[in-house]
Amino acid sequence: MSVQVKEFGKTADGRTVSVYRITNVNGAYVDVLDYGCTLQSICVPDQDGNLVDVCLGYDTVAEYEANDGYLGAFIGRHANRIKEGKFTLNGVDYTLAVNNGPNHLHGGLKGFDKVVWDTSVASDRLLFSYTSPDGEEGYPGTLVLSVIYSFDDNNALTLTYDAVCNKDTVINLTNHCYFNLNGAGTGTVLDQKLQVFADQFTENDADCLPTGKIKDVEGTPFDFRIPKLIGADIKEENQDLINGSGYDHNFVLRGEGMRDACVLSSDKTGIVCTTATTQPGIQIYSANFMTERKGKGGATYNMRDAICLETQHFPDAIHNENFPSAVLKKGEEYHQETKYTFTVSK
Ligand code: GAL
Repeated sequence: MSVQVKEFGKTADGRTVSVYRITNVNGAYVDVLDYGCTLQSICVPDQDGNLVDVCLGYDTVAEYEANDGYLGAFIGRHANRIKEGKFTLNGVDYTLAVNNGPNHLHGGLKGFDKVVWDTSVASDRLLFSYTSPDGEEGYPGTLVLSVIYSFDDNNALTLTYDAVCNKDTVINLTNHCYFNLNGAGTGTVLDQKLQVFADQFTENDADCLPTGKIKDVEGTPFDFRIPKLIGADIKEENQDLINGSGYDHNFVLRGEGMRDACVLSSDKTGIVCTTATTQPGIQIYSANFMTERKGKGGATYNMRDAICLETQHFPDAIHNENFPSAVLKKGEEYHQETKYTFTVSK
């Protein structure tokens, strides 16, 4: 295991961005930016032993700054939407930055994806730290964060998030990696197979905000309990698919503690990605809002050219009492872990 660091570029306001490469004994590696703790590349072996980059990204800081979509980024303080960017906690009203129609999305105008994180290296891992000041993007409390990315010799990438706040607050941290197991920039993921260990999903309205209703996947295009092509039902005349412009929904994961959430696989490369997590839900997002753009190495990325597997608390939990709470009490320790393990099927 080795970690190499080099300069990646500079932000528009002059901050230096570094890229860290963690390489394992197989020669597989991940490239991570200190800008937004962004997963820039994940290069893992296919069935013939050739390395394939399965993560979409850009070659320059300027493209990360200019483009939407949060490619590979670490997301917080609160992943996904908070209705109208408003909530009440302990009788106090809070107003957050609004950046998605009338709603707050993925931490606001300057979420954790736009922070250059303090980074230190320890053998197979990167330790990122950041203190989010009281009131940042409207959130209560000074939040002290510690994020660890590690990559091991079994091609497992583990993301660990720890945080503590000096006031009651809300928190929902995730990673927004866009996976394509045929290789980033090779076109659609609709021919890849997905299995999700969830019997239910949360219904959204046309703004992608949860209605509060939890629906059974049974008999719907959301039934991925048995592995199914992502594209198998995506064009069905189904109101939930219409509201999301495809899959853009929180699945209610079975069980709790660290357990498997989903398995994504490609018949072309034989690469299998198993996602395990401590989180209660996973946003399966089929890159419906990915407008045509240039990606790494001159590749072109389009709608549905990737899938995001965003382990998370349920969106807008603060307004839906039937969802697991996303409130973090003053002094309480927040801890979540997600592991993406890459293997090959023979
Ligand atoms: C997803 C979200 C989508 C969209 C996307 C970023 O996590 O569910 O609705 O906002 O991020 O383009």
